[in-house]
Amino acid sequence: MRRKVTKAIFPVAGLGTRILPATKSVPKEIMTLVDRPLVQYAIDEARAAGIKEFIFVTSRGKSALEDYFDHSPVLEQELRKKGKTELLETLKSTDMESGAIAYIRQHKALGLGHAVWCARRLIANEPFAVMLPDDVIAAEKPCLQQMVEAYEESGGNMVAAMEVPPEKASSYGVLDVAEDHGSVVRVKGMVEKPKAEDAPSNLAVIGRYILEPTVLRNLNKLKQGSGGEIQLTDAIAEDITSDVPVYGYRFRGQRFDCGSKAGFLQATVAFGLSRDDLRDDLAGYLREVIQTDKAAQ
Ligand code: UTP
Repeated sequence: MRRKVTKAIFPVAGLGTRILPATKSVPKEIMTLVDRPLVQYAIDEARAAGIKEFIFVTSRGKSALEDYFDHSPVLEQELRKKGKTELLETLKSTDMESGAIAYIRQHKALGLGHAVWCARRLIANEPFAVMLPDDVIAAEKPCLQQMVEAYEESGGNMVAAMEVPPEKASSYGVLDVAEDHGSVVRVKGMVEKPKAEDAPSNLAVIGRYILEPTVLRNLNKLKQGSGGEIQLTDAIAEDITSDVPVYGYRFRGQRFDCGSKAGFLQATVAFGLSRDDLRDDLAGYLREVIQTDKAAQ
């Protein structure tokens, strides 16, 4: 029987330079899409996939994240006193069972692979998920849940993959595909941030992974890769040579890169329009903006 995936690592120790100056004092993952921080979307997705233990790899200046998942007795008492049961209900999603959440420090931003490695002792010898909260995915069935279901069939390592235009491939890890079975592809290699002309395909890795503990052992070597960082992609690709299979999973859904300004704005519009209480106002405003823009041209 395959072991169930019940642990997820959330690497959130990056510097977030693309959203400076905001990220000078606000962790990127606490920035808000409509009324929930990015990290809440990731936690909800993890819970839907059956994750029970949440491991955050953090860095200096991320204490707002820890507070977010803590109880807030004064606020809760005040809301209760005023009979604001609906608001109390919205706070429920931030509740964490005691001991279900752990924070580990990455003392230096040495790369995503290094951040994942920092959590090795909490993973021990079982498969685990990695989720990057700045990749927000709108999907009918949450992306990680889709992957867990596929993983139950396939085992091995699995990375979320999506088609990107060739000129964008150099911003991602890119899959070298051995067999294409539609939603699942078997991978024979992975290249981190290749030049457009060297990209082995247009299938890019985005921030959802299900990994075997062998990847942690590969990370033990802590070899620097593209950009001088310790790359998770390299440690996953190393498994292919030792016969642990690697699969790309073409998820169904729309991914927003909320680590970039344009992606964040697009996600704000998309999630705003998906809300019954906001759709009419927001859509009306957008129509006005577009009309004014057209008239000005
Ligand atoms: P990014 O490539 O988005 O880097 O990291 P970043 O530092 O967060 O943002 P920019 O590029 O400077 O704007 C992808 C994920 O890996 C984590 C980040 O927190 C993010 O979730 N990460 C990256 C770490 O935890 N540690 C690192 O050393 C690097």
